[in-house]
Amino acid sequence: MSERKTVLSGIKSTGRSHLGNYFGAMKQFLALQELGHELFVFVADYHSLTSARDANVLREETMAIAIDYLAIGLDPDKTHLFRQSDIPEIPELSWILACVCPKGFLDRAHAFKDAKAKGEDLNAGTYTYPILMAADILAYGSHLVPVGKDQAQHVEYAQDLQGKFNHEFGEEVLVRPEPMIQSETGLILGPDGEKMSKSRGNVIELFEPVKSFEKKLKRIKTDSKTVEEPKDPDTCPVMTLYKLFDPEGVPALEEKYRAGGMGYGVAKQALIDATRAELDPHRERRAELEADLGSVEAVLVKGAEAARERAGEILGRVRRACGLD
Ligand code: TRP
Repeated sequence: MSERKTVLSGIKSTGRSHLGNYFGAMKQFLALQELGHELFVFVADYHSLTSARDANVLREETMAIAIDYLAIGLDPDKTHLFRQSDIPEIPELSWILACVCPKGFLDRAHAFKDAKAKGEDLNAGTYTYPILMAADILAYGSHLVPVGKDQAQHVEYAQDLQGKFNHEFGEEVLVRPEPMIQSETGLILGPDGEKMSKSRGNVIELFEPVKSFEKKLKRIKTDSKTVEEPKDPDTCPVMTLYKLFDPEGVPALEEKYRAGGMGYGVAKQALIDATRAELDPHRERRAELEADLGSVEAVLVKGAEAARERAGEILGRVRRACGLD
């Protein structure tokens, strides 16, 4: 690595982690952690509050996300893992940025326009969501922000607001962040052969009980070729998932597809075995963490301390720059 960068990402705590999240985002944090960057990863529970209306559910889902990341191997000695709502500097910076954000910016936000088009309940939190997210990004002096494509516009807002703030109050105050668009790991399909997404209701949760996890794999929709017929590995949704779990085993399985004489049941079993090899250690770790929530809480508290230390320095600069000190 040429230079140690500050890398930051947040995960909204609505719903459970699914395989799309795992391959699309979660595993990439593990890779970044190994590159020696300074990583800030937080559960975006303030953002969840734009729609969450049950305190126990929000609390539980926030904790569940943290546990999921620890279970797959996020190392709290290398990465600051914390809850967004433990950082009072975030709403503070959010207000300050709101004051340099032209209203027209927010009117153009895709996420807000989509929510409006779908007739969802709109509150001012939904409307100002990009400002809160810009505060997340700018409060730690982040250089890089790994996000999915759907969040790219939000990182542009952070860049715009960074530019505006610095222009008005001082060129050196906030650091310009760059998006790091996570390559879509191919398209991750649900058992119905459609793109896996919460809104389609076809997700396979990363940590759902093994029985129902494997049942879903067995139900993956394939074509109706007989056992004898040669099959096309390139269009088979079983193969799409298999590739993610066991890239090295792909050529051998592809050959079996093309040769014929293998039923889809066999391919599905190969997929199940591959998921066990990858996920069983994570499942065990997760069960241990579930049984020791105190240790998870301790990780989050320690992460928040580190995050507040950084945010505190930057907020100090911000306050001085705009005369709020
Ligand atoms: N909006 C992001 C999502 O829905 C979550 C998020 C909140 C985030 N703050 C962030 C992501 C800051 C990256 C950086 O997935």
